[in-house]
Amino acid sequence: MPIPFVFINVATTADGKLDTFERKSSSISSDADKARVLRLRAEADAVMVGGNTLINEDPKLTVKSAELRAERTAKGLPENPIKVGVVSLANIKPDGDFMQNGPARRIIFTTELTPPEQVKVLSDLGAEVHILGKKRVDLRKALETLYTLGVRRLMVEGGGTLNFELLRQGFVDELSMYIAPKIFGGQSAPSMATGHGLIESAGINLKLLDARALDETGGVLIRYQCLNKIY
Ligand SMILES: NC(=O)c1ccc[n+]([C@@H]2O[C@H](COP(=O)([O-])OP(=O)(O)OC[C@H]3O[C@@H](n4cnc5c(N)ncnc54)[C@H](OP(=O)(O)O)[C@@H]3O)[C@@H](O)[C@H]2O)c1
Repeated sequence: MPIPFVFINVATTADGKLDTFERKSSSISSDADKARVLRLRAEADAVMVGGNTLINEDPKLTVKSAELRAERTAKGLPENPIKVGVVSLANIKPDGDFMQNGPARRIIFTTELTPPEQVKVLSDLGAEVHILGKKRVDLRKALETLYTLGVRRLMVEGGGTLNFELLRQGFVDELSMYIAPKIFGGQSAPSMATGHGLIESAGINLKLLDARALDETGGVLIRYQCLNKIY
């Protein structure tokens, strides 16, 4: 069964961190990078985030530009891409931005840890809830489900644990990193790929596609192709 073209986009510090050790959703992107991310989002069929990002930050994941939304509708697309959450226990706020900000189709991949009454709360609000696994979401099934639903271009917006699992399992085509001229440090601060890590021989090789200064702030944009993608 095919899966969509999957690309990860992250904003990191020069030491590869997605956030500080405080995990309060640090602002790392420059204005130029924020505009670039919105364009990427507007060109995606769906945007995916991991459970910690979803529960702790309750992201909107919408295209926050009337012009880009109009470009989508002119192509016959919905105003916003599908919002996708990968979350073991779907304790998502029913009145939060992920659920309410839109209009957008919402798909939640979760596990048997989510009680049926919570599944009902989210379904009653129009989210499509799929139980795919006992304790962790089966990512292959999630990607296959998205393909079946018409998703051909999937943007992944973190966090580090979801990024790592998608990379480890060979599901990622491309990785874009905005690297800000800044250092957060901290052993427990999340990096762009966390999880349990890999032994050296299993390291994922990347091919450089593009590297350039993005703006006057000293931020750099790097784009890689992942060479372990399973087709
Ligand atoms: N700078 C950026 O571009 C950016 C973007 C997004 C997020 N962030 C930052 O990243 C941090 C959050 O990242 P995170 O690594 O803690 O969490 P995450 O990747 O957002 O979410 C991971 C969680 O999703 C659940 N999950 C269920 N099935 C999974 C599967 N098959 N594979 C992976 N995860 C699965 C797991 O919950 P359980 O452990 O409960 O099973 C897992 O801990 C925050 O500090 C946030 O601000 C930064």
